[in-house]
Amino acid sequence: MFETISHFTFPTEIFFGVNALKGLPGHLDTLGMKTPLVVTDRGLRESGICAALESLLVKAGLSYTVFGDVGANPCDGDVASALEAFRSGGCDCVVGLGGGSPLDVAKVVSVLAVNHGDLLEYAIHTGGHVTIRGPLPPVVAIPTTSGTGSEVGRCSVITSKTLGRKYMVCNPLMMPSIALLDPSLTVGLPPALTAYTGIDALTHNIEALTVKEFHPMCDAIAEKAIEFVARYLERAARNPDDLEARGHMMMAALMGAVAFQKDLGTAHSLAHALSSVCGMQHGLANALCLVPVMRFNVTASAKEYAVVARCFGISTFGMTDLEAAQTAISAVEDLMSCIGIPGSLAAAGVAESDLTLLSDKAFEDSCHLTNPRPCTRDDLLMLLRQAYETTSG
Ligand SMILES: [Fe+2]
Repeated sequence: MFETISHFTFPTEIFFGVNALKGLPGHLDTLGMKTPLVVTDRGLRESGICAALESLLVKAGLSYTVFGDVGANPCDGDVASALEAFRSGGCDCVVGLGGGSPLDVAKVVSVLAVNHGDLLEYAIHTGGHVTIRGPLPPVVAIPTTSGTGSEVGRCSVITSKTLGRKYMVCNPLMMPSIALLDPSLTVGLPPALTAYTGIDALTHNIEALTVKEFHPMCDAIAEKAIEFVARYLERAARNPDDLEARGHMMMAALMGAVAFQKDLGTAHSLAHALSSVCGMQHGLANALCLVPVMRFNVTASAKEYAVVARCFGISTFGMTDLEAAQTAISAVEDLMSCIGIPGSLAAAGVAESDLTLLSDKAFEDSCHLTNPRPCTRDDLLMLLRQAYETTSG
């Protein structure tokens, strides 16, 4: 018992609430930072949110640089350009504003500001991530979606043009110093993106819960977050202005990223392949793969899925764990259909001829290594075929 060392790191300072954004200049002052690089994407750069942030910096008399060109699935080129902006602007810290993509880029810019060489040298699949050395320039993360939880995570996911797939860079030093969570920043998120990012958060929590590692703090956090998703995701998708639902989803996303310090599972390997090969939005890719993966894992994770069922408000009294687990899978399917997730990979526009390539890319991805049931390349192809045909029934 307890022969493996568990590793717990939860150091990000979190400020949560409407108008939390307004605290940014004060937090930068506390950190002793004077010249931030703001990393964001094109949509936000042109939005009122980025303008409001810039206005706060101007009023505080801070000089800053904005890098506003992060792509939807950020690649090495985005990182290189952002790093160049950091250096040419003489910046001393990074403010990430946006969904997972800008936040992930913000975190690796901080890594490369003091660690030399190519980002690929610090990838988790080569073991290079353990060579990252600090102290890193502080990162303040301001999410505008409720999905990745990158604002408290120790990982970034970047697409390598050389490898033709995504890779992960992870190190506890990469956790942002401060996360500002302002639910009002998510009210403009369209219903489809609300649904996709919300299912990403759900997938993080479910996969973290099923990783076989002794990590009771993460498990407790995942359970509460699944409860929030079950209760609030449909509300947030239907009523964009529902701040109570938006706030709970924002917290569920944050909690998911804390929980997946335990690691993730096969749904994320499949989702990373779908984004790399087909350019599919990450949360949608998870949504299309989660149910087939839950079915694949149902025996190995019956006990954990029974917990998921209870988080969805299902009374499992008198059921075996396996029976309760089946009700959890049905509850997840029902939620997907309520929020308008397409019924299959085929319906989402994936070509059947890409499935073999997708299974190869998914097999190269490290997330399935911590799936509760080991996966072969053929298992991954079988799961993709199931997701291609239908996610329900
Ligand atoms: Fe994810």
